[in-house]
Parts: sequence; structure tokens; C-alpha cells
Amino acid sequence: MNSIDPKALTKRENYKLLSGFILPRPIAFVTSMSSEGVINAAPFSFFNVVSAEPPLVSISIGRKGSVQKDTARNIVDQEEFVVHIVDENNVEAMNATAANLPPDESEVEAVELTTVESDVVKVPGLKEAPIRFECKLEKHLTFQEGETSTDFIIGRVVNYHISEGVHQDGEIDVTALNPIGRLAGKDYTKLGEIFSLERPD
Ligand SMILES: Cc1cc2nc3c(=O)[nH]c(=O)nc-3n(C[C@H](O)[C@H](O)[C@H](O)COP(=O)(O)O)c2cc1C
Repeated sequence: MNSIDPKALTKRENYKLLSGFILPRPIAFVTSMSSEGVINAAPFSFFNVVSAEPPLVSISIGRKGSVQKDTARNIVDQEEFVVHIVDENNVEAMNATAANLPPDESEVEAVELTTVESDVVKVPGLKEAPIRFECKLEKHLTFQEGETSTDFIIGRVVNYHISEGVHQDGEIDVTALNPIGRLAGKDYTKLGEIFSLERPD
């Protein structure tokens, strides 16, 4: 076993280890809106559910030096966003939105995604996703280390939109959903073999 002190590693080296250990990761495909009304879309795989009651999710958005990414700035300013689940049909579009566009240019327009109005928040969602949920900012934390920092966003889910094809009797049909997980670097994974385990009492 190799024993490695994270303090002896660069940011890149720690990133490569952590993103290689914790996988496959779900991908939040996030829409947010700037104060000028530009709709931004971008993917984030440092994403998870925090709690079911209250319904909370988290996204971790790295800064470039001290500069916030558009998504983080929009969420902190507007306190709202929409999360979409990435599946086999929207994965290419999701990847295309990760391009580094200036804040006044919309990835949604550049990638020709279709927006749909939300019910509770002002930020629209994307029609191309079978599952999306509207969120309000619950908490924003920042973590700083040397020159770089991270915006950690916790969102409260205020509305779910679920396509009928992937939802029956309150359960999600994962084989109909075909979710995509992110591995390390450029690699992704589809659902593999599914198996069940009985939990011990
Ligand atoms: C699949 C995928 C997952 C990503 N996950 C993250 C992440 O968890 N945190 C992060 O800061 N950037 C992540 N990125 C990079 C951002 O999507 C990228 O920096 C994007 O341009 C940010 O857009 P924005 O400035 O419009 O918010 C990811 C990119 C891809 C393709």
C-alpha cells in the first residue's frame, strides 16, 4: 500500500486521486440565470443528495483562482437553479455545455437546447432531460486553500419534473432512465449489471 500525504500533492494530483476514487459519480446538469437574464447550463459531477427531509442536494463548484464559475455566481446572486439528470440521450449536449463561454453567452443557445418554464423558480429547465428538479439556494459555503477555492452549494428541491416513461408508482425505472455516471478524466459509464442484496436485520 502506498501512503500519501495530500499536503505533499498539487491541486491537480489531489483532484486526480479523489476523482479516481469516488466513482461513478452522478452528474448534475445545471441551469442558472445571470442578473442580466442570460441562461447558463453546465455539468457538475461533485454532486449528491444531502438529505431527503428536507430534500437537499449539493454541488461543488471549483473556482479558477479566485474567479467564480458562472453557475456559482448565478446561484449565489439569484438563489435559484434547476438540476437535470444526465442520461444516454442528453450526455453529448451536456458535454458540449462544459465549454468555457463568457458570462454573457448562453450555452443553452450555443448547444441548441430547448428551455421550458419552471413552476416555482424563475430559472427555466431543459426539455432534453427526463428528470429535472427546481432548487432554491439553502446554503453557500466557500472553502479556500492557498490561491484556490470552491463554492459549495446546497439547494433545497422545491419541485420535481419526471417524465412518465421513467416513473411508475413513485419508483424510478432505472433501466428506462439510462443514467450516465462520470468516471475519471474523459470517461463515462452506462448502467452495468444490476444485482440486489438483502440487508441484514
Ligand atoms: C461531466 C463533467 C463534470 C464536471 N464536474 C464539475 C464539478 O463537479 N465541479 C466543477 O467546478 N466543474 C466541473 N466540470 C467543469 C464545468 O462544467 C466547466 O468548468 C463549465 O465550463 C462551468 O461552466 P460555467 O462557468 O458556465 O458555470 C465538469 C465538467 C464535465 C464535462
